[in-house]
Order: sequence, then C-alpha cells, then structure tokens
Amino acid sequence: MNIIETKNLTKSYGNFTAVSGVNLHIPRGTVYGFLGPNGAGKSTTMKMFLGLTKPTEGTFSIDNKRYPEDRVEILKEVGSFIEAPAFYGNLSGEENLEIIRKILGLPKASVKEALELVGLTEHRKRLAKKYSLGMKQRLGLASALIGRPPILILDEPTNGLDPVGIHEIRTLIRSLPQKFNCTVFVSSHLLSEIELMADNIGILNHGHLIFEGTLPMLKRNASLQGFPTENLEETFLAMIDEDNRQRSGKR
Ligand SMILES: Nc1ncnc2c1ncn2[C@@H]1O[C@H](COP(=O)(O)OP(=O)(O)OP(=O)(O)O)[C@@H](O)[C@H]1O
Ligand SMILES: [Mg+2]
Repeated sequence: MNIIETKNLTKSYGNFTAVSGVNLHIPRGTVYGFLGPNGAGKSTTMKMFLGLTKPTEGTFSIDNKRYPEDRVEILKEVGSFIEAPAFYGNLSGEENLEIIRKILGLPKASVKEALELVGLTEHRKRLAKKYSLGMKQRLGLASALIGRPPILILDEPTNGLDPVGIHEIRTLIRSLPQKFNCTVFVSSHLLSEIELMADNIGILNHGHLIFEGTLPMLKRNASLQGFPTENLEETFLAMIDEDNRQRSGKR
C-alpha cells in the first residue's frame, strides 16, 4: 500500500516547468530515495507536499488524505526538513526543540529523544547561532523527527555533514521505518548515498520522473539499456546523460 501517491503532479513558473506530470508511488514503511541533479525539481516536489507551493496541475494523496481538500490534516502527519532550517540563534538547541515540542503538544521526553537520535545531546546547551553547519543540520533533523511523525520528508539531510556525520545520519534514516514505523521520503543528488538507505528510488531529471523502482530493478534496466552497472554513480550519470540527449533532440 502506498502512503504517498502523486497523479500528474506539475509545477510551472511562467512557461518553465519545474515538475512535469510526475506519478510517484511511495510504499508505507519504507525509505524512498528521490534522486536527481541540481535543478531537477526535487525541492519543488517536496514543497508541494508541505503546502509551501501550489501545484499548477495534478494532485497527490498522503495517508489517504487528498490535496487540496485535506491539506491541514496532511501537515499534522508530516515531519520535514527543507533546505537550511531557521532557528532562534540566541536560544540553545535544546530550547529551540522545546519550543517546537510545546507548539506540537508533545510529551516532555520527546526533546531528549530527538537530541539523542541525531547525536546532539552533548551540545544541547550551546546557542544555535554557535552551532557548526553539521550541528545545524542535526538540529533541523531533530525538529523533523520530534514526536515521531508517521511521514518524514527530508530534503538533502546530509548536506554539509562530514563523512562520519553522513554515515550516522544515513544509518539513522535507514533505521527509522523499523524504529518508529514511519515512512521516509528523502532527496539526494548522489545515487551512491541513496543506495545505502533506500528501499525504492525515484529519479527525476528536468522535472520528469525517468525511473521508479527498487535498486535491483534499476540495475536490470540499466544493463538492458547498455549502461554501466559496476559503479552506480556511473549508471546514474549515464541515465541522466541519455535523457538529456533525448530531450534536446525533441526540442
Ligand atoms: N520560485 C521559483 N521561480 C522560478 N523558478 C523556480 C522557483 N523555484 C524553483 N525554480 C526552478 O525550478 C527548478 C527546480 O528547482 P528545485 O529547487 O526543485 O530543484 P532541486 O532538484 O531541488 O535541485 P537541487 O539539487 O539544486 O536542490 C530549477 O530550475 C529552479 O530554478
Ligand atoms: Mg533542492
């Protein structure tokens, strides 16, 4: 059963189409990796799910709730991390989470849990403005995770983290469906990163979904089309390249 589905989801700015007729199928209780080069339309798609920008055409449903009728209900179920999250710089990480906890009406213990999950317990008393980039990313993740929402939408959550941090966050994301019974929709522009955490993958290029399926399916498809499959990063680049070639031919 799919917890998120989109139908012909489209977003245009003037005569430029950032997301074009996208049909996504995200199974419940899985990690879904949303992959695409810079400007492919990943953030735009996520922003539509969060009501931050309106689709020009098409619709979507999240946990049987449909956009636009149920958009407030949708937001209650989703924890999100979109681009550089904003915090109160003059409050500590812990105090920032405490504010979110109160707004969401969550139990006291949820702040401690969120801090532990993202590895910020040690730095919880430091002012947010004194956090390093990686610590800010972790605080952003903590504010998405707090209260264990059934759906998490994470836009490039490992941006700015060092290799150890990337590994930790990836392992955390991978563990979330079992731990909290949640579904994670996570974007990245690296297939090598997505392959380590995702059950399913969707690849977006110039607003078009050019592949959706499991990693073994991706490998099978790629080898049928004569793309390299030894190194997944090369597979991904070859697919994008081919799609770009076909697209420029059509123009
Ligand atoms: N408000 C806007 N007005 C006009 N164009 C926009 C607007 N927002 C996004 N775009 C364009 O839509 C396209 C998709 O952008 P989007 O941010 O969704 O890409 P992305 O896949 O998230 O890329 P990245 O990997 O760089 O984060 C880009 O060409 C971008 O310039
Ligand atoms: Mg983006």
